[in-house]
Amino acid sequence: MKDLLANDQDFVWHPFTQAFTAPIPLPVISAKDATLFTEDGKEYLDANSSWWTVNHGHGNKYIADKIYAQFMTLDHVIFAGVTHPIAVEISERIIRFLPPGFQKVFFSDNGSTSVEVAIKMVYQFWHNQGKKKKRFLALEGAYHGDTFGAMSVGQRDYFNAPFEHLFFDVDFVPFPTEENGEGVLEQIEELFKTREFAGFIFEPLVQGAAGMRIYDPKWLSGFIALAKKYEVLTVADEVMTGFYRTGTPFAIHQIETIPDIICLSKGVTGGILPIGLTVAKQEIYDAFLDEETAKALLHGHSFTGNPLSCAAISASLDLFEKPETLAAIQGISDAHLQFIQAEKDNSAFRQLKSMGTILSIELEVDEASSYFSSIRERAYNHFLNDGILLRPLGNVIFVNPPYCITEEELEKVYSSIRAFARGVQFV
Ligand SMILES: Cc1ncc(COP(=O)(O)O)c(C=O)c1O
Repeated sequence: MKDLLANDQDFVWHPFTQAFTAPIPLPVISAKDATLFTEDGKEYLDANSSWWTVNHGHGNKYIADKIYAQFMTLDHVIFAGVTHPIAVEISERIIRFLPPGFQKVFFSDNGSTSVEVAIKMVYQFWHNQGKKKKRFLALEGAYHGDTFGAMSVGQRDYFNAPFEHLFFDVDFVPFPTEENGEGVLEQIEELFKTREFAGFIFEPLVQGAAGMRIYDPKWLSGFIALAKKYEVLTVADEVMTGFYRTGTPFAIHQIETIPDIICLSKGVTGGILPIGLTVAKQEIYDAFLDEETAKALLHGHSFTGNPLSCAAISASLDLFEKPETLAAIQGISDAHLQFIQAEKDNSAFRQLKSMGTILSIELEVDEASSYFSSIRERAYNHFLNDGILLRPLGNVIFVNPPYCITEEELEKVYSSIRAFARGVQFV
């Protein structure tokens, strides 16, 4: 291979990267299970599942075989005016995998587009009925993706400042905690009483990009109950939390009332092919049925319903039916809890929390917790030196590994975190 890194520098523009100051990227040339292999012969544990996607690990033969078989049967076809067996199969299976109440699956390409579609469904649901509901509610610290609608309902900050004048107006309420939760409930009720709200979007139980911030299901149950009371549509963005990340198949399995719309992506294909799914209740779908074409959801993408991505979903769902997959998920969840128990008095850690297979460790630093904490680079390099790819969010180290990670590999990750914490304490 000609010089990979030199050519990368000449021709590639990387995401979320200031190329002027960024270190050279890892030249990953292959991957198997939880391990990435680089051009210079090194190995790295993929402890954040490659942007929280590869649930079943890399190079899973079962998924590969199913994609190959699908490729030889039907590789791609337009999805407007056409249907095909694998899209119908996985739609039905996803509906059965979700808590009861969802009925229709709309396909797009990634997490952000699954959110865009949800926002359009919400606004058009009211528009089609001639109801003037224009306001949207979201949680402070939210991240729903990088397209314009998704950015509009996300935290306004450094990341999206150049575009802020283009966003639609959204009301934000604080992230709920034991201290402020009742107050947030009251604040939401005051807002919803105006009857001006079309929708409320949230990352259920864990805010990912905000630093794997975990909140109690009781607050979300309360928020959704208020939304029902005041006829506000609710959108659960389970792009990150779906498919057992929080211990249950979906985070919304842990709350009392199900939302109206759910967004899925990342791990839905086992994390190895792109797709976005926006799943709605029947009553949402019904509001788009009319003699008038303009009342339809006039939205679509070239790769809508791509059969290869659907085959990957089908294979991933098969793997979730295997007791060994569920045992592995339980094993990771238990190991995280044991780590927390063992480290709870470690003064290097400001806070230790887990939910299912997500472990979130807030490092004690002189400043308030922040994405821009200077400790981030030190931690990132420390883990790389130990052969682990972990991408801390500021001073929050989090571990959400592929479910195939072995006990020894997980222990290696914990040991490296402990060693980093010791280093920080003695500086
Ligand atoms: C909760 C949530 N929603 C949406 C997205 C956007 O997904 P994508 O990166 O596939 O556009 C992300 C990505 O991290 C996410 O965590």
